[in-house]
Amino acid sequence: MKALDFSEYIRVIDDFPKPGISFKDITTLLKDGEAYRAAVDAIIEKVRECKPDIIVGPEARGFLLGAPVAYALGIGFVPVRKPGKLPGETVGETYELEYGSDTLEVHADAIQPGQRVVIVDDLLATGGTISATARLLEKTGAQVVGMSFLIELGFLEGRKKLEGYKIFSLIKY
Ligand code: PRP
Repeated sequence: MKALDFSEYIRVIDDFPKPGISFKDITTLLKDGEAYRAAVDAIIEKVRECKPDIIVGPEARGFLLGAPVAYALGIGFVPVRKPGKLPGETVGETYELEYGSDTLEVHADAIQPGQRVVIVDDLLATGGTISATARLLEKTGAQVVGMSFLIELGFLEGRKKLEGYKIFSLIKY
């Protein structure tokens, strides 16, 4: 079978959510069964090499890619959520945005110390979300052994915040 060019399935919408932003819409890839499966399969190939015990996905779009990866590998999936969503005891990590700050949370008992974790998300932009997620997981004693993205916005230089981590992305802008 011919390899798909995943970028052809991403819809670019200019000036969303605000003027000057060129939004990469993944819903056009997700609704195409062949492209969605092929993209998840390509992510799985890379993630498998990291030999994870657990997959972590940040809310919300990280769930759409992280959960099928965990299912296919037969390992657990742990959601990282925005504040106030998880019912049990949580650990949180706050990070700076252009204006203000944001917090992410995970269940305190979701990951055992020393477990190997790969974080799967749709997009690496500034790297703020993923670096906060990694710090959060490391607080719980997890070992972050990889980070995988469908899309990387290289011009935002998110990788600079992620030195020392193994990073994979399928589509680069
Ligand atoms: C988006 C995206 C990544 C993050 C990337 O999530 O899904 O998680 O931004 O940006 P960064 O590298 O600059 O941090 P968003 O916070 O919009 O949440 P959503 O998935 O719930 O839409």
